[in-house]
Amino acid sequence: MTAPVLPPLDVSTAADAGELTRVPIAMGERSYDIYIGADTWRNESVWHGLPQAQTALIVTNTVVGPLYTAQLKAAIDGVYARVVVLELPDGEATKDWVHLQRIFDVLLDEHADRKTVLFALGGGVIGDMTGFAAACYMRGVPFVQVPTTLLSQVDSSVGGKTAVNHPRGKNMIGAFYQPERVICDLRALQTLPAREMSAGLAEVIKYGPIADPAFLDWLEANMAGLRSGDTHLLGQAVKRSCEIKAWVVSQDERESGVRAILNFGHTFGHAIEAGLGFGTWLHGEAVGCGMVMAAHLSQRLGLIDMDAVVRLTRIIDSAGLPIKGPKLTDASGQSSEDIYLEHMRVDKKAQGGHIRFVLICDSGLAQVGAADDDVVRAVIEACCVA
Ligand code: NAD
Ligand code: GLY
Repeated sequence: MTAPVLPPLDVSTAADAGELTRVPIAMGERSYDIYIGADTWRNESVWHGLPQAQTALIVTNTVVGPLYTAQLKAAIDGVYARVVVLELPDGEATKDWVHLQRIFDVLLDEHADRKTVLFALGGGVIGDMTGFAAACYMRGVPFVQVPTTLLSQVDSSVGGKTAVNHPRGKNMIGAFYQPERVICDLRALQTLPAREMSAGLAEVIKYGPIADPAFLDWLEANMAGLRSGDTHLLGQAVKRSCEIKAWVVSQDERESGVRAILNFGHTFGHAIEAGLGFGTWLHGEAVGCGMVMAAHLSQRLGLIDMDAVVRLTRIIDSAGLPIKGPKLTDASGQSSEDIYLEHMRVDKKAQGGHIRFVLICDSGLAQVGAADDDVVRAVIEACCVA
């Protein structure tokens, strides 16, 4: 099979206003479409052809539910005889086994059958949990991603990674399970707090250094407009991010190779999230800072020069993201560097206890590689503040 080709960056076509952009994700019988636009949810065509069932369950949370459940319900009421809504508590701490069980409880209470369709209305937390619930309930029921954060529109709703956290590691319990489709409405981003917008921009920025230098140039030039919530610019950023993610995932659905590059910044970032306790830093904030650390590591390994590190750090900073990591502490009194290393060994890319990092290079795609603990320690020491 020939590898798919990434279409060139094209920021001339509209991904906002009345235009509806469709980004296909090619995965054989698991192929699906990502719809992007302003007012997408009110566009009847995006709801056509959903799997038929008696019952649909909308899983959302106490922040997003009051804002958007009525709109989603109105859109799908004609498709399903019964639409049930479950509102979970807000936050990363909800992404655990206990709250996952609440989804199963409702499905069983409602006598949901194998055809029941789950709708994930919310950010990455709701999307990841609902997807995992859909993967498990009766060994698999269909689900639709309706992402409402920038992070979830550009990353977590696409590609089929679903999971809950374990106290000892991020996303440790999960499954690859693809949605039926992804429906992004840019209008939802208007209610997103500024801190969440910045967190989403971290996952947008990552696509530049790993796959598309021209997109990084575009982001550098348009960061202020993106942060201010300009729908046209956000539409372009969501579209390009989804194109790159679809291109990577369609080559390697289960991360046996190239998909790992989507984890640029995540090895350090996951250590920050786990080390501080999930929810202290936002996932995107940890990824933003993790990309700075991974760039320094790439530089120390001779893959990029210091100018590239400085530039990427400046772009991450301009997105309103932290560029210095926290010093980590624990009851055993280990050094911060050792705590980072311990968390990073739990990373899913690690093999036989050896940490593997996504490294960026001056030309071409990012790559996955190892580094001596001493070099990693030096990076952590240089990049973290108390
Ligand atoms: P989130 O789901 O916690 O949402 C962030 C906050 O914004 C929450 O408080 C939420 O209630 C609120 N919110 C959501 N939509 C809103 C809106 N339109 N208006 C106002 N408030 C809104 O966090 P997130 O950043 O969307 O996702 C982070 C999660 O995604 C992490 O658990 C991370 O591990 C996961 N993730 C998964 C993948 C994947 O491939 N599956 C990729 C990246 C991240
Ligand atoms: N967010 C990384 C991935 O989907 O592979």
